[in-house]
Amino acid sequence: MIIGSDTIFCKNAGSTNSYASAMIKSGHVSEGTLIHTNFQSAGRGQKGSRWESEDGKNLLFSIILYPSFVSPADQFIISVFISLGISDFLTTFDCEAKIKWPNDIYSGDDKIAGILIENSIAGNTITNSIAGIGLNINQEDFPAEIPNPVSLKILTGVDHDTGLCLQKLAVCLDRRYKQVISGEWAELRNEYISSLYRFNQWCRFKSAGTIFEGRIVSVSEQGCLQIEKKQGNKIEFAFKEVEFVI
Ligand code: BTN
Repeated sequence: MIIGSDTIFCKNAGSTNSYASAMIKSGHVSEGTLIHTNFQSAGRGQKGSRWESEDGKNLLFSIILYPSFVSPADQFIISVFISLGISDFLTTFDCEAKIKWPNDIYSGDDKIAGILIENSIAGNTITNSIAGIGLNINQEDFPAEIPNPVSLKILTGVDHDTGLCLQKLAVCLDRRYKQVISGEWAELRNEYISSLYRFNQWCRFKSAGTIFEGRIVSVSEQGCLQIEKKQGNKIEFAFKEVEFVI
C-alpha cells in the first residue's frame, strides 16, 4: 500500500493541505503519507474558497505524493485517479457517484466531496503533489451558503464510522494510484469521462458571460472540457473558463 502507508492525525488543523506542505518543507515525508483531522479552522477549497465542515463529522485529509514520472503537462491524471478513487468508495455503499468536471464529486445533483490538488513543479518535474479531500460523511445540516451539499448519511440514512471510511477510501485511492503507476492512463481517462456529471446530456453552460446550450463530449488529456454546441461546433474550455448553469 502506498496511499495510507503512513497516517498522521492532526488535531484541529488549520488546513491539512497547508500542514502537508509545511511537513514537506521541514524534511522528507514518505510517499502516500495521509494527514487527517477532525476540524479545520482554515479549510481551503478551489478558486480561493473556504471548505467548511462540522467538527468530527466528515473526512478531511491530504495525501502526499511524489509523482515524478508524471510530467507537468499530464498533471490532470492526478485529478482523474483521485476522483475515480472517491467514486469507487461511494459505489461500495450503492450510492450514485458522478464527477463534476474537473473534480467535484456529486451524487445526483448534490456535492458530496471536494478535491484540492496542489502540485509543486520544478522545471519539467512534479516534485510533490498534495491531494486534499473533503468528503461529507455524517453531517446533516449545512450552512445555507453551501449551494447543494449532501453526505453519505443523508444518502444512506445511517451513521458511518469515519475511521473505517478513511481506511476504505485509502484502499480505493491506492488501487487507482497503482493504475497510474502501471501506465493504465487510457483506461483511467475513459472511466473518468464516462463518469462525468451530465456527460453527453444537453444542458446550459456559461462562459465569458454568455449562456449557451451544449453537451460534454470529452475531456482532453490536459483536462480541458470539450463541449459540443447545439450549432454543431466543438469548443474546449480550461478550468474556470466555463460553468454549468443549473
Ligand atoms: C473544493 O472547493 O471543492 C475543494 C475542497 C477541498 C477540501 C479539502 S478538506 C482537506 C484538505 N484541506 C484543505 O484545506 N482543503 C482540502
